[in-house]
Amino acid sequence: MLTQNEIQQLPTSYTIDHILVAPNIVLAPMAGVTDSVFRRIILGLGGCGLVCTEMTNAASVSPKALKRHHLLDFYPEERPLTMQLSGNEPDLVAFAAASVEQLGADIIDINCGCPSPKVTGGGHGSALLKDLPKLGQVLRAVKAAVRVPVTLKFRAGWDDARLNYLETAKIAEDAGIAALTLHPRTKEQAYKGQADWGRVAAVKRHVGIPIIGSGDVADAADALARMRDSGADGVMIGRAAMENPWIFLQIAQLRSGAPMFAPTPADKLAFLHRYVDLCLTEMPERLALNKLKQLIGQFGVGLPGSATMRAGVHRSSGVAAARVELDRFFTPYLAAVV
Ligand SMILES: Cc1cc2nc3c(=O)[nH]c(=O)nc-3n(C[C@H](O)[C@H](O)[C@H](O)COP(=O)(O)O)c2cc1C
Repeated sequence: MLTQNEIQQLPTSYTIDHILVAPNIVLAPMAGVTDSVFRRIILGLGGCGLVCTEMTNAASVSPKALKRHHLLDFYPEERPLTMQLSGNEPDLVAFAAASVEQLGADIIDINCGCPSPKVTGGGHGSALLKDLPKLGQVLRAVKAAVRVPVTLKFRAGWDDARLNYLETAKIAEDAGIAALTLHPRTKEQAYKGQADWGRVAAVKRHVGIPIIGSGDVADAADALARMRDSGADGVMIGRAAMENPWIFLQIAQLRSGAPMFAPTPADKLAFLHRYVDLCLTEMPERLALNKLKQLIGQFGVGLPGSATMRAGVHRSSGVAAARVELDRFFTPYLAAVV
């Protein structure tokens, strides 16, 4: 537990070259989740300093494809916006980076952490941790191709026998990378075990550029405790934001000493309906339903009956049916509050 004095000592911002990230609590990129709708909702709730697109394969980015590349859709209110690319061919990733810069990216992030076999099989994502010279080439090529700052998101290594996060961080810094985000698990771990934030602390001591820690942040107090313990310049939040999109706001309130917003079941239900409403304005019903199904995986976890509700949403063949499942689950809680 942090004292108010300790909280006041923590950094509240960091810079990525000339871009100020304030507050220094940022939303993690999550494929299938952090599309423009989710990002705008999170920003609207307050307390989040930076958002990022879902990972986009550099090979899918060409001037022709760009116009209809839904992963890269964004609205001006999302700025400053990071666009994340994956790839392992320096020229191709550099070309994609120049293209997304044209599209409006304020920051370009290179993914060196995705553990999915589909991604690593092509040599992308955390596969680059097995070929650091190649990673260096990719980073230098991207840096040379764009004017906006370039950042790197990476894991601690391929497996426990090949932990190379310090070397990776140094290669990135030497390539001119402006900030680093470390998810301190290995590729082999995927999401198992714990994220070892001692590794974030070690990177902080090893390089001179901002380091953001990502992994296992559970709630507002936990985010600030991890920042204190690791010395990280910023904290990135992923899965906890799917379950509790108010976590960024709660961190801001914890810092200012204001009472922490405690979402009621009515707030959660309203959030889900609003999410679906916004999805429907951006995409066909089938995709909006898929988005809800993905989000609901985290939502309401812990409340009695939530597993049944999630199963009901997953069985739903349309948005209307899914909404009925949500209403059916939350209504008894609403009545209990009144
Ligand atoms: C569903 C899902 C999708 C993800 N997609 C991406 C991605 O596209 N790019 C990326 O760098 N990390 C991705 N991640 C990793 C997160 O950004 C984050 O580093 C990781 O989940 C650990 O943080 P957390 O414990 O706060 O979720 C994804 C994670 C999840 C759960």
